Amino acid sequence: MKFNTDILSLFDKGWALVTAGDLDCFNTMTISWGAMGTLWNKPTCTVYVKPVRYTHEFMDANDYFTVSFFDEKYRDALALLGTKSGRDSDKVEESGLTPVRIGENLVGYVQAAHTLVCRKIYRQDMDTAFMPEAERERHYLTEAPHTMYIGEIIGIG
Ligand SMILES: Cc1cc2nc3c(=O)[nH]c(=O)nc-3n(C[C@H](O)[C@H](O)[C@H](O)COP(=O)(O)O)c2cc1C
Repeated sequence: MKFNTDILSLFDKGWALVTAGDLDCFNTMTISWGAMGTLWNKPTCTVYVKPVRYTHEFMDANDYFTVSFFDEKYRDALALLGTKSGRDSDKVEESGLTPVRIGENLVGYVQAAHTLVCRKIYRQDMDTAFMPEAERERHYLTEAPHTMYIGEIIGIG
């Protein structure tokens, strides 16, 4: 598996969609925090999802998730998917992106430039006791801290 990228700007500048569920029942949201690396000798992709997000339910309920990266021209679609909740509307339909079945029964997007297929191998709720006070105050005064999901990358398309 090869994926050559500028990892420090991939999430931060490029954004991505994290998607969990199958075509009959899935949710997706925009992320700009993430990591790629190695754990337990496996290639991994880590994402951070706040419990308040609808996507969180899907991340917990499913053993797999996908992470999709897009060209700049889809920035508006990603902005929409990162401001609306799948709880309230069919935001994927509104975004104009086309969901597509990936692998066994996962969901990615026809328009994605790259899609990582990830098998969830670890999850942990972040603990505000172990983070800088500035970040605690900036991100978690009113909402519970992110859950970290580490996925083994089992496919790159
Ligand atoms: C550029 C951008 C990056 C974001 N990154 C994250 C992230 O890394 N983690 C997170 O929990 N929320 C992030 N969000 C917020 C969610 O995408 C947003 O709350 C979304 O509406 C949740 O949708 P859902 O309720 O359908 O899951 C980001 C939003 C934007 C616009």
